[in-house]
Amino acid sequence: MSVIKHVAIIMDGNGRWAKRRVRPRIWGHVRGSSVVSDIVRSADDLGLRALTMYAFSTENWSRPLEEVSTLFRLLRKFIIKEKSRILENNIKFRVIGELQSLPPETVDLINDIETLTSKATGLNLTFAFNYGGRAEILRAVNTFQITNPERLMTEADLNELMYRPETGDVDLMIRTGGEQRISNFLLWQMAYAEMYFTPTKWPDFTSREFCKIIEHVSCRERRFGSVCGQEALNASVERAETNKSAFFQGVVL
Ligand code: FPP
Repeated sequence: MSVIKHVAIIMDGNGRWAKRRVRPRIWGHVRGSSVVSDIVRSADDLGLRALTMYAFSTENWSRPLEEVSTLFRLLRKFIIKEKSRILENNIKFRVIGELQSLPPETVDLINDIETLTSKATGLNLTFAFNYGGRAEILRAVNTFQITNPERLMTEADLNELMYRPETGDVDLMIRTGGEQRISNFLLWQMAYAEMYFTPTKWPDFTSREFCKIIEHVSCRERRFGSVCGQEALNASVERAETNKSAFFQGVVL
């Protein structure tokens, strides 16, 4: 069974993918949005608990207006197109980010699907939209300070004040497009995440590559588990004791 339960994805490389084909950048996003549907299906088939996808960062507002409005349109289109499949498959749909600055018709669609799927028990599908990891942490800290001025914050407090605390920590972060950064994505939730960077540009990313990455990282985790299992831990304590006494007896290690 896979040890990977929550996968987060930075869908990068759309612009370069389109440029290489002498097409406008937005064409890359449009092609990329159909890949989103495929990967959601695979995540559901694999029985993942959560899939979080970075669709629009707080920094993306600096892009040309046409590109920004395309990204908003693609989110709306996705919700409308996939609504019945989301409901049929018991998927819980959420959007994290500063939603109050999104257009009202987008917010209405988001609220509607979030309400409809609030009791779903299958895949937790989250889009990070107008999202920034630092903004999420700051918002939590400020909320805490206002409501608990008399005590210090704990890890559990901060966890509880994330946009969607129930989604929990990320086990694996995948970034397409060849860059090796986390770009202000789920900073708090990725503290212990495995990272996987693929050169594949997002519009070329396939379910097959997605499954292979999960398989690969699950093997990596299992090997790590065997080294850290109880037997190995006992062996390592024993080795440490031997080394320590050898050290004090002046034996060169
Ligand atoms: C980064 O690629 C990608 C984004 C800023 C947006 C990702 C969005 C989608 C894949 C489509 C959204 C779909 C839904 C359903 C919400 P980039 O443009 O920065 O690529 P580049 O690094 O090659 O320029």
